[in-house]
Amino acid sequence: MTKNIGILTAGGDSPGLNAAIRGVGKACLGHYGMHIVGFRDGFRGLMENRTAPLDGGQLSGILTLGGTILGTSRDKPHRMPVGGKTLDMTDAIVANYHANHLDALVCLGGGGTQKNALRLKEKGLNVITLPKTIDNDVHGTDTTFGFDTALGIATEAIDRLHSTAHSHHRIIVVEIMGHRAGWLALGAGIAGGADVILIPEIPYDVESVAAALRERRVGGKPFSIVAVAEGALSRQEHGALQAAEKQTADKKKAGKKPAGRKDVPEGDAAEIVYAERTLGLAKQLEALTGLDARVTILGHLQRGGTPSAADRILATRLGTAAADLIARDQYGVMVAARGEGARAVKLEDVAGRVKTVPPDHDWVASARRVGTNFGD
Ligand code: F6P
Repeated sequence: MTKNIGILTAGGDSPGLNAAIRGVGKACLGHYGMHIVGFRDGFRGLMENRTAPLDGGQLSGILTLGGTILGTSRDKPHRMPVGGKTLDMTDAIVANYHANHLDALVCLGGGGTQKNALRLKEKGLNVITLPKTIDNDVHGTDTTFGFDTALGIATEAIDRLHSTAHSHHRIIVVEIMGHRAGWLALGAGIAGGADVILIPEIPYDVESVAAALRERRVGGKPFSIVAVAEGALSRQEHGALQAAEKQTADKKKAGKKPAGRKDVPEGDAAEIVYAERTLGLAKQLEALTGLDARVTILGHLQRGGTPSAADRILATRLGTAAADLIARDQYGVMVAARGEGARAVKLEDVAGRVKTVPPDHDWVASARRVGTNFGD
């Protein structure tokens, strides 16, 4: 019997998604003679049974396209906004999986998608995931597609900001995406030669940052680039977060309903919180150094446009590896990038785990060697 494979893209979009759809699709269709069908807008489209044809025609010319031809959403099967309520629509998704006579479902997404796919595995569906996100924060894989492209965009931005900072003798604080991980800010900060890199994994003391900038001014460089991850926290904020998380854990232990998570806002609230924090940091640095400061928030620029060559190769490698696993009926796994190859990692070992930057990571050590300040 010809296998029928469903594909969906979920979570934030990223460069390389279409390259991955193409990798899975062309390998399934052309190499293995399977049939594939796309579902629109992530798990919502599967819940609503909104399909998209994915035959040879639709897969041509998409390798270089940014975004996802299927559309995406952040909707979760077990917490789906429906008619103004939030409902568990897992059963509807399982029903549509069978109604479409799927033999397997390939989910392209980040950390949240790994968790959602595991839930569907536990409902008996044959799922395989690919690790996608510009944040590079998915556990169990060397890297995620989207990260390399975003790294290039953020690095080019820092390069451009150097000239205006130098011309005006200013501090430029550039906010870089990454959610609760600092990989993007760390990588772009190193590649762009930022003088200060602030990441969530190393809570910072604004005095330490200001001292480094003052030292540069005394040394004849009255300009600096501060690369700040959107999730970076001062030591005070980090302390407050830890206290809030402890309170939540204690309430859970006592069987009480914890207050909603205030520490890590989601959606557009997050962007406002992040921007306010970044603007506040710039103001503090102005006051502490006597230098003018300006803020650039890179935002969704980091998610846009054509994928880099590295991401195209990675997405193709992982997509075709997913097709190989389907041909061997190996399900319930994420296709992880490992060196030049790919490895199937059980979803149980991936879901719910965030890959953050170890404070003693080689990249951090290397940046310190060239004099980069991390606010500590
Ligand atoms: O997960 C990718 C990401 O770009 C994060 O870096 C960022 O915090 C978030 O998505 C923004 O989410 P949205 O596009 O839903 O505003």
